[in-house]
Amino acid sequence: MSKLFSPFDLRGLRLRNRIVMAPMTRSRVPGTVPDGRTATYYAQRAGAGLIVSEGAQVSEQARGYLFTPGLHSRAQVEGWKAVTSAVHGQGGAIFAQLWHVGRVAHCSVQPGDRAPVAPVAKRAEGVQVFGYREDGTPGQMPASRPRALAAGELPRITADFAAAARNAIEAGFDGVEIHGANGYLFEQFINGGLNTRDDAYGGSSVANRLRFVLETYEAGAAAIGPARTGIRLSPFNRVFDMPAFEGEADTWLALARELAARGPAYVHLSNRAAILAEPAAGEGFLRSLRGAYAGPLVLAGGYTRDSAAADLGSGLADLVAFGRPFIANPDLVERLRQGWPLAEPDRRSFYGGNAAGYIDYPAYDEAAEPA
Ligand SMILES: Cc1cc2nc3c(=O)[nH]c(=O)nc-3n(C[C@H](O)[C@H](O)[C@H](O)COP(=O)(O)O)c2cc1C
Repeated sequence: MSKLFSPFDLRGLRLRNRIVMAPMTRSRVPGTVPDGRTATYYAQRAGAGLIVSEGAQVSEQARGYLFTPGLHSRAQVEGWKAVTSAVHGQGGAIFAQLWHVGRVAHCSVQPGDRAPVAPVAKRAEGVQVFGYREDGTPGQMPASRPRALAAGELPRITADFAAAARNAIEAGFDGVEIHGANGYLFEQFINGGLNTRDDAYGGSSVANRLRFVLETYEAGAAAIGPARTGIRLSPFNRVFDMPAFEGEADTWLALARELAARGPAYVHLSNRAAILAEPAAGEGFLRSLRGAYAGPLVLAGGYTRDSAAADLGSGLADLVAFGRPFIANPDLVERLRQGWPLAEPDRRSFYGGNAAGYIDYPAYDEAAEPA
């Protein structure tokens, strides 16, 4: 039988299969507090060995989208409790993704309409984000020009992540995933093309560019334990105006070695397909990363049943994450197990809206299929 369906011991947490539901923002949380629909959505998908929740902002400043949940207020913790107990009630496991968008935001979603924050005051060019138009209606608009964070502000953000990690455990999550991927705040610091700061948190020194994410990882791990603290990264990511930079592979391998020394729950790479397509990276890079970091590795990005089984079989990954397939196939694990066809998700309902395209995708009905 394919390794996909074999259990996995995630540092003491037993996962019933190797299939992870990748974190996906769905922008359907009114007022930043998860509600009954959120609980239904995740409970429908609890067949995954592990669910990673949609990104949850760790503070108001951390927010870049409309209708995304937080994990920094009492009401949000209470809202998440119904989600985690619904998932656990189905025998599933769930981590919370902790998020700070950095410069990928419009000032209309920031407290006091202030500029979003980043390592340097450089706008994400050509990047559209959600915000409020002047007439107060929501819409897409260019990301605002950020202001550069002072070094003295970084401990506050690190503390926000630690507090959100504690909140996550109180809300019943099995652990947290620090969002260090996809062009958001931590990747903005890691990227040597963007982060040209001249202090201890940037510039040509790899150690300086890794300092913020590692300090934050350590604070989260100190709050709830490294075995409950995972991290998501996206080496060679170009989304959200992230430039290529010198020594890119070495930067990520250095980070992998630093993380290995801290014993995280897992390292999760969000963009496997892009890494494989990148001439400077490819499978050789993934193998080197595997050498630098021997702990649990989750890969995501463009997986099919066959490619997932192949990467688990070859030992390239310990766990494989599926994103878009989970949107339209709440019973994805069972469909993969049985070889049933997969439904295609409707992109128009990825973000925002109501129950349609969210909790109304049916499980596969064999009897309803033509013979
Ligand atoms: C609607 C949507 C929302 C997403 N939101 C997040 C998110 O909140 N955090 C994150 O790390 N990745 C997010 N992603 C990326 C996915 O986790 C995943 O890495 C990506 O979709 C590639 O996997 P796939 O090819 O299986 O979909 C999102 C993707 C989609 C399609």
